[in-house]
Amino acid sequence: MDIKAVREDFPLLKEYGDIAYLDNAATTQKPYFVIEAEKNFYERENANPMRGLYELSQRATDIYEKARESVRDFINAKSTKEIVFTRNATESLNLLAYSYGELLEEGDEIAVTVVEHHSNLIPWQQIAKRKGLAIRWIECEDDGTISEEALKKAISDRTKIVAMTQISNVLGIENDIKKYARIAHEAGAIFVCDGAQSVPHIFVDVEELDVDFLVFSGHKMLGPMGIGVLYGKEKYLEKMPPFLFGGEMIEYVTREDSTWNELPHKFEAGTVNAAGATGLMAAIDYYKRLGFSNIIERENYLSRFAYNILKDIPEVNILGSRDADMHHGIFSFTVDGVHPHDIAEILSSDGICVRAGHHCAQVLMQHMKTMSTARASIAFYNTEEEIERFAESLSTLRRRMGYVK
Ligand SMILES: Cc1ncc(COP(=O)(O)O)c(C=O)c1O
Repeated sequence: MDIKAVREDFPLLKEYGDIAYLDNAATTQKPYFVIEAEKNFYERENANPMRGLYELSQRATDIYEKARESVRDFINAKSTKEIVFTRNATESLNLLAYSYGELLEEGDEIAVTVVEHHSNLIPWQQIAKRKGLAIRWIECEDDGTISEEALKKAISDRTKIVAMTQISNVLGIENDIKKYARIAHEAGAIFVCDGAQSVPHIFVDVEELDVDFLVFSGHKMLGPMGIGVLYGKEKYLEKMPPFLFGGEMIEYVTREDSTWNELPHKFEAGTVNAAGATGLMAAIDYYKRLGFSNIIERENYLSRFAYNILKDIPEVNILGSRDADMHHGIFSFTVDGVHPHDIAEILSSDGICVRAGHHCAQVLMQHMKTMSTARASIAFYNTEEEIERFAESLSTLRRRMGYVK
């Protein structure tokens, strides 16, 4: 991959060449093609999709549905009926918890892991409170791995849902989703996979994994903010009640009651984000243009490169696995005696962007007995030079904070 040429595709990286953007797990930068696709929609296709009978509205509908087909193909879903556009992974999980939760009964159980992002926890907690359900915790190993035993321990004959992230946004560790979905199914539960950190970085094939639901956000995979995806098996989506009510999601309305539109429109109330969907389609096209396997290879290489430098800085403690390949480009770390917010601020003064805080995973922080960490996360467009600069800045941190060594 010619990284110099690739970086030319990203206006922000060109504009701020001196910045090392290492917060890709929060959101990625966007290539021209994505920005242009959104702009093009508003300049050339803009009308309310699904509403007008005139040609422009038809074109807006067509491009929106083309984007849905592109997402279907990307994750290998059976049908576009199984692809619901939302605002982001968080909204997908709220939709799911609210709607699937309606099908559950008092005493039913939902098993979640301690490494989950709040988005894959709080919606379940809330529906559990409303419906009298119980949350069961799947504990993790020291490196964040979920073992088969831990999963089995958390499952009972009342378990109706197992919710698990494929890649942890804090530790980068990957769970064996195919195996765990099978275990959940054997126990009579459905399996919900949070793909927010996996879909952008590894091949995710819903048929192969046999997950019942998968959620992800466009903005973490080069796409625009404000467009996300809920994949769900048709048989479950059919059974679920709508989450939001109003225009477009209905079939027929009388004074007394209403009936619902067919899938996936039943879950897409109101005017949709067609420009965002078009941008997401452009992001997927861009993945294909570069070759997803080239992207994965490059990210694995950079991940190893970063780990091997960081591990040799004595005052830096990397959380999670000691195996570089288990990090998927995500490194949460602490520096002895330096608060993570100070780490992020000092790095920022050197033009390096990393995240600091609890990373929306406070249960994991509690499990690891820490309040917060700093986190660097890599994308294929990062360079060795940026990582070296990051490490160099890190290794001077303690001295800049006033420590002698
Ligand atoms: C693992 C994981 N799940 C869910 C989310 C929520 O994504 P969004 O904020 O795009 O809804 C994130 C965001 O960082 C995440 O890392």
